[in-house]
Amino acid sequence: MSYDDKRPETMERIVDEKLAAAFIDEQIARIREQVGDGKVLLALSGGVDSSVVAALLIRAIGRNLVCVHVNHGLLRKGEPEQVVQVFRHEMDANLVYVDAVDRFLDRLAGVSDPETKRKIIGAEFIRVFEEEARKLEGIGFLAQGTIYPDILESKDGVKAHHNVGGLPEDLDFELVEPLKLLYKDEVRVVGKALGLPDSMVYRQPFPGPGLGVRCLGAITRDRLECVRESDAILREEFAKNGLAGKVWQYFTVVPDFRSVGVRDGKRSFEYPVIIRAVNTKDAMSATVEDVPFPLLQHITDRILNEVKGVNRVCYDMTPKPVGTIEWE
Ligand code: XMP
Repeated sequence: MSYDDKRPETMERIVDEKLAAAFIDEQIARIREQVGDGKVLLALSGGVDSSVVAALLIRAIGRNLVCVHVNHGLLRKGEPEQVVQVFRHEMDANLVYVDAVDRFLDRLAGVSDPETKRKIIGAEFIRVFEEEARKLEGIGFLAQGTIYPDILESKDGVKAHHNVGGLPEDLDFELVEPLKLLYKDEVRVVGKALGLPDSMVYRQPFPGPGLGVRCLGAITRDRLECVRESDAILREEFAKNGLAGKVWQYFTVVPDFRSVGVRDGKRSFEYPVIIRAVNTKDAMSATVEDVPFPLLQHITDRILNEVKGVNRVCYDMTPKPVGTIEWE
């Protein structure tokens, strides 16, 4: 860990708008000093960290930041649209939107092993991003949403801290990592001060491979839509009923088998949806949220009525351990 990667003990925790504003001013000056009138590239997923980095760099260097948003088809309902709306239309960002949905789903067709799915998604992401980077001229810098826990974990060998690490060596960008000394709660305070919407700043954790690990086994487009639509209903109902800010992570899962049901007096043979809602501090262990039964019944009714191809809804009662939070 270099000196620059160590959070000074005197650094005050950013807990309010005033401290956030001071941090933003300081970082804007530093970014301008580092990049001058150079161009900076950023993979903008729409997650908290990359969104805050984008908003900060837009303040500092405007359209000299080039954001690349790769839609791999595994994002939640409305997410790619929100990235375009917030960054291109509201913040006037220089945003390249890449529709890579078919490309990812074609590569994933028939692949059922979870770790192989993760590897394909990660490798394909780098490939798409690399292609976009090569199309652009005069890029000298790569911005990343590295935060302090990433630095600490990479120091301990838990994970590699460079999110887009894996780019070929000839794409030799200098890194810009303005959030690297911040904890997650501070990133959210800064994001709010930069004017990002609450739905971006306070969003629940979402795995890099996205809905890909919630559409169990080999991904098919029909089941992926079942995951996306049921997840959207769950999120809407949790938001309406005051659970969105309270429950740590909540989502739906669709297995790759069907069961028998009856609809309109006829036999049906369709997929189940599994609801998962858990609380944790560090994701190492987790407890199941005690969702009010009437709300579970209402969500079940909505999923059964609104999501095509689903005839059964289950609630996952398993704590971690023994179950992990995700199913794959
Ligand atoms: P598990 O399933 O291991 O999940 O109990 C713990 C936390 O990690 C998230 N998760 C991932 N995040 N890439 C990610 O970026 C992944 O491959 C991945 N797998 C799990 C999970 O959503 C939970 O918050």
